[in-house]
Amino acid sequence: MAIRLGDTAPNFTADSTEGSIDFHNWIDGSWVVLFSHPKDYTPVCTTELGRLANMKPEFDKRGVKVVGLSVDDVESHKGWIKDINETQNCTVGYPIIADPEKKVAELYDMIHPKALNNLTVRSIFIIAPDKTVKLMLTYPASTGRNFDELLRVIDSLQLTANHQVATPADWKWGEDCVVVPAIKTEDIPEKFPKGHKVIKPYLRTTPQ
Ligand code: BEZ
Repeated sequence: MAIRLGDTAPNFTADSTEGSIDFHNWIDGSWVVLFSHPKDYTPVCTTELGRLANMKPEFDKRGVKVVGLSVDDVESHKGWIKDINETQNCTVGYPIIADPEKKVAELYDMIHPKALNNLTVRSIFIIAPDKTVKLMLTYPASTGRNFDELLRVIDSLQLTANHQVATPADWKWGEDCVVVPAIKTEDIPEKFPKGHKVIKPYLRTTPQ
């Protein structure tokens, strides 16, 4: 069955470049990004994994663990990581799951045969510390992902998990947020002492 937002991320055990992973144990109360890429030794994937390796300190700062997946085995992943490190000027410092039997790929519906025959598409799952799925993105093989956007989304998810706000279009860290509709306008001053604006009765903003 398809995974939906709010579902518990399905558990699995799989080999990875950093040893066997029991996914629920591995989550261990952190935020997690699980991302699939179609195949080892492919050009776009090489740039994506390098970019993520170089951005890993930003994910660490936010308490987010990252883990990749493709349908090749650990030996293949390890050989390819050497190429990624060499060509992308990085050190891949996160595990890549080996899924040669496509068990995890099937579990997470990462194979879309009409788009890409027998390989995973570029899926992203952001999972909260309570193991629920908070965001899913699916890109085709021909389009490399934007990892700055992923950080922006994580900032929004972590903020809105703790405060009664939502984030507007193109929001970035530090910009005004939207007060959620469940809060009455007359209750805003007490809940948001930094101030607020009422643009329309249904569109109220407050500083982050
Ligand atoms: C790539 O990562 O470059 C790629 C992988 C599968 C199909 C097309 C491109």
